[in-house]
Amino acid sequence: MTDAVGKKSPAELDRVALQKAYARWAPVYDLVFGAIFDRGRQAAIAAAEQVGGRILEVGVGTGISLPGYSSQNRIIGIDLSEAMLRKAQRRVADLSLTNVEKLEVMDAEHLSFPDASFDVVVANHVISTVPHPEAALDECARMLRPGGEMILLSRIGADRGFRHLVERLLQPIVCRLGWRAEFPWDRFALWTERRTDVRLIERRPMPPFGHFSLLRFVKFELGARA
Ligand SMILES: C[S@@+](CC[C@H](N)C(=O)[O-])C[C@H]1O[C@@H](n2cnc3c(N)ncnc32)[C@H](O)[C@@H]1O
Repeated sequence: MTDAVGKKSPAELDRVALQKAYARWAPVYDLVFGAIFDRGRQAAIAAAEQVGGRILEVGVGTGISLPGYSSQNRIIGIDLSEAMLRKAQRRVADLSLTNVEKLEVMDAEHLSFPDASFDVVVANHVISTVPHPEAALDECARMLRPGGEMILLSRIGADRGFRHLVERLLQPIVCRLGWRAEFPWDRFALWTERRTDVRLIERRPMPPFGHFSLLRFVKFELGARA
């Protein structure tokens, strides 16, 4: 977000700030966010396994989900942060995860794979951290073959009330850590409304405190929704 003279708001995220933030998180990420997000991650993996096939993990981070995928599936992981990806690469080597085809530095808003390359796209705790969430959602949807699923774990902020106010106040601090405090459901709702080829098929609250959700979207053939 920019003001009238084109200066970026200090409460917004950008690629450089994100890379710096996740370089700091990389050594301790699993320790801090391993157990607390485990139930959500297991639910996302189970949903991805229901479809199976070629799976793209966007914002794969330290690769904390990678050991959960079955050996028949082929996994490709991308992330903006080299430091996080180095952790993921070490995990793949240490655990001999032969189903992980590739881990690559890439921006979720500009994926370099051709359209419809994947059966499943997973993005756990990523969409609310990217500078332009709707652009990343568009790219994730572009990756899916018709009938494929996009599976997201995301923080859903409050739309109004006291929690909404607190989230707004926290935003300038929290964005330095590499994510948004404020991320109302409306952003997903408006994005889904705009797309003619994607439909939300599940929204399930997830711990901690139900402030997170598992979201599943399915991709149609173009025009099939009408
Ligand atoms: C909160 S971590 C989540 C990591 C992992 N998915 C998990 O479930 O623990 C967010 C990840 O998204 C990555 N990320 C943020 N913006 C990105 C972008 N534009 N493109 C690709 N990855 C991005 C960060 O580098 C970080 O590894």
